[in-house]
Amino acid sequence: DWVMGDYIEEAVARIREQVGDEEVILGLSGGVDSSVAAALIHRAIGDQLTCVFVDHGLLRLNEGDMVMDMFAGKLHARVVRVDASELFLGKLAGVSDPEAKRKIIGGLFVDVFKAEAAKIKETHARHVAWLAQGTIYPDVIESGGAKSKKAVTIKSHHNVGGLPEQLGLKLLEPLRELFKDEVRELGVALGLPPEMVYRHPFPGPGLGVRILGEVKKDYADLLRRADAIFIEELRNTKDEATGKSWYDLTSQAFAVFLPVKSVGVMGDGRTYDYVVALRAVQTSDFMTADWAELPYSLLKRVSGRIINEVRGINRVTYDVSSKPPATIEWE
Ligand code: XMP
Repeated sequence: DWVMGDYIEEAVARIREQVGDEEVILGLSGGVDSSVAAALIHRAIGDQLTCVFVDHGLLRLNEGDMVMDMFAGKLHARVVRVDASELFLGKLAGVSDPEAKRKIIGGLFVDVFKAEAAKIKETHARHVAWLAQGTIYPDVIESGGAKSKKAVTIKSHHNVGGLPEQLGLKLLEPLRELFKDEVRELGVALGLPPEMVYRHPFPGPGLGVRILGEVKKDYADLLRRADAIFIEELRNTKDEATGKSWYDLTSQAFAVFLPVKSVGVMGDGRTYDYVVALRAVQTSDFMTADWAELPYSLLKRVSGRIINEVRGINRVTYDVSSKPPATIEWE
């Protein structure tokens, strides 16, 4: 539309003027904000932007490949993918406390990003002078006001505080004045697929806080497959009353891995396998949330598919806790 077209033109002009002939580095997470920031900056300065995508091994099924397909493949942006999954899983071995896990993941994320940014600064011919971040208006307000413990963690993970100074880079934040729905509209106008732009939020520590207790690769692999089935069924199931998919009718939905085993029966045999919990909530601000009244038929299909298709999981439960007193994530 016209208004958005004008906005893009203006934003592009502003970025070009700010950056001049210098270069920009951006940490791409696959989330909405960093994706839209990347697409906008790429539109403005093309190859003067290098995106760094740190894969911590705790992403959803095929997520890393999807991010690369989109940005390197379709947008032809410069993207460095850093596969750091072994590093992350190694440091997480034996750690089961949720906040300790968050600290390790957040800290490593910054270390890996810094190392990569330093490499780029050294090897690129042009002067790398900028760090771009997908900070949006609500983040700007939030960092001025009261913060919850988790909000602080969100900050330290995503909008890595102090990082520009440490890297000797200036901060470029082209989404600073936009609300979330404006960021989404901008993303679509820039050609990002609506499925990406209207995705549920995903926490920085990823599956690290959806595997209860110690994180192990085998657990992550099982969880990824169960979660993908749940999301696929939510996307494919429409609510008759509204005509919307259950994915769009929920604010956040995911599977959680419970490292306990229970007995089941499969064919003639007995199984003794892991459990997943499904979580789906509706909320306007994520401060309070109701568990979603998903149709039984949908839950039945999801549970049937997970148990049949994901060997190693033989029981599926549905979380009927609202926030408060439960939180949305299980850790
Ligand atoms: P809770 O579990 O506190 O979650 O009800 C509220 C919202 O915040 C997200 N969340 C996080 N996001 N890093 C993030 O980037 C984190 O450590 C983190 N913890 C929770 C959660 O997914 C939900 O949207």
